[in-house]
Amino acid sequence: MGNNLLPEEITVDGIITYIVQQALKKYKIDEKRAYSITNETLLKSPKFLEFLNNKPTFKQVLKSRVFEDLNRTARQRIYYALRQYNSDSATFKSSVESLKSLSPETPYNEYESILKEIAQTHTSTAERLNHADEFYGQLLGFLEDTQTLLDVGCGMQPLLFPFQEGGKEIKTYVGAEKDKTCIEALTAFSEVYKPGLLHAIEWNIAHNWKILEDRTGIRFYDAVLMLKLVPVIDRIDRTLLEILRFTPARKWIVSGSRESMTRQISIEKRERKIIRRFLEQSGKTIIGEFSTPDEFCFIAESV
Ligand SMILES: C[S@@+](CC[C@H](N)C(=O)[O-])C[C@H]1O[C@@H](n2cnc3c(N)ncnc32)[C@H](O)[C@@H]1O
Repeated sequence: MGNNLLPEEITVDGIITYIVQQALKKYKIDEKRAYSITNETLLKSPKFLEFLNNKPTFKQVLKSRVFEDLNRTARQRIYYALRQYNSDSATFKSSVESLKSLSPETPYNEYESILKEIAQTHTSTAERLNHADEFYGQLLGFLEDTQTLLDVGCGMQPLLFPFQEGGKEIKTYVGAEKDKTCIEALTAFSEVYKPGLLHAIEWNIAHNWKILEDRTGIRFYDAVLMLKLVPVIDRIDRTLLEILRFTPARKWIVSGSRESMTRQISIEKRERKIIRRFLEQSGKTIIGEFSTPDEFCFIAESV
């Protein structure tokens, strides 16, 4: 029960810390953020605060219904917060403003810290930051012959893409994404950094390919990135996989996560199975593979 975590005297801070420590064992959340979510939940639990007025012992607190409700609600909110791709709107807004003030003449190193700050607000893209060099180093090896690149469900990923390094061959990068916040950031980037290179298109897979083609003028791409996308779509709406099966690109680069975005567990086996099945049903053969500690990536083509 972890009673050693509990201070002798019952304090609101002690209760919050207890809930947070238990939640950290299960969820991949930053401690400060978990604390703030739990604190907010507790402040909105008048019944629990009233119960504390009766000066219960910790044992009584842990056994009480009101604590059970509080604990469950706080954990649900922690989990929900982790499922949100866009997590920090204040940082996002100020960073996008900084980005807009740059120009094509600005040295790339001045872009880098701003782009990282924005990418960090998208949980899924941020996860890659710890192993970004390892990931992009390997990815670029498969993009040497690529001039047109499509990125489906791109999130904020194009902000981290190494256009300065091996990505120089790429003439057109289309980032297609349904999330307006991502599109706002990518559009700001595309307008100041090498205009004409990145095209941020607000698009939903459900719209299908013709709509994307009408907006980009590109019917078929050299390569497509579907990074950490297929397992998400498999979970949310499998009918969309039928559309993804006809993704108009020669080389498919499809990745999955090795660890859960929210929980302290490995999901690699399940994600590999989903992606392998998807590729097989799309008539693609896996011709290469690479991985980092938190992501694996298949390269597939029609052979
Ligand atoms: C797990 S994130 C991966 C983001 C990015 N590819 C990366 O690896 O950093 C999945 C992304 O797919 C997008 N997405 C989910 N369903 C979509 C749909 N139906 N159409 C377009 N994008 C979608 C989400 O908004 C989210 O940004």
